[in-house]
Amino acid sequence: MILAQISDTHIDPENPNGADRVSDLERCVADINRLDPLPDAVIHTGDLVHNGTPAKYRLAASILGALKIPLHVAAGNRDDRAAIRLAFPTGRDLLPDTAFVQYSVDDYPVRLIALDTLSATTNMGDFCDGRAEALRVALAEDGGKPTALFMHHPPFEVRESTYGWQFDSQDGIERIRRALDGKTNVIRLFSGHSHRDVRGWIAGVPASSTPSVAIDLRLGDFPAELADVPIYQIHKINVGLGTVTSETRGARPADVAAE
Ligand SMILES: [Fe+2]
Repeated sequence: MILAQISDTHIDPENPNGADRVSDLERCVADINRLDPLPDAVIHTGDLVHNGTPAKYRLAASILGALKIPLHVAAGNRDDRAAIRLAFPTGRDLLPDTAFVQYSVDDYPVRLIALDTLSATTNMGDFCDGRAEALRVALAEDGGKPTALFMHHPPFEVRESTYGWQFDSQDGIERIRRALDGKTNVIRLFSGHSHRDVRGWIAGVPASSTPSVAIDLRLGDFPAELADVPIYQIHKINVGLGTVTSETRGARPADVAAE
């Protein structure tokens, strides 16, 4: 199974870089659509738009609507949960009758679970008892099926960042860790928010954060040839072995991709 991951697109026509961010996302969508084989699905790990208004979500959805494969979105701190629910499918709701966007997608060989890590008070991450209990229940439902989690805030230390730990407190991370403890079928955790290409671990599960698609917000060092190229990631999952091979790649122009 192959997943493409995009993140932190921060679509925002009111920003001076707004047109570039639209172009960055369009280039990634076009490149993903040209992949052979096509991925099974795309995950977006949040900050789809920057401080969402309905118009920004309409714009983001119109670009993402060109994807040839299903898209699953996790909410970021710059997102509006209700707007995400309106604009995108959110799987089987793990916290019905709440605002949280936490859901399971059971249609693939690897089960995908979107976690809601939004804080009520800050731009950092949070994960309360209710969300942790819903994750525990979901994982207990099917303890054998390989499962990948995707979420906005990385629950591991990003040493390169001013904010190494990107949660309000360690409590939220500890709740995730406890929910995952001993769950050997959870093979990977994907996140965004750091805008960097970084890796870590939680409860023995390999975890990663992908660079922002928005080039103006991207952090870290990249090869010179990618300076003006938007970046996304491809994750190849060997379901039988439970392994994941990840690749960070630049969105190729159509003429290069055709070669
Ligand atoms: Fe972001």
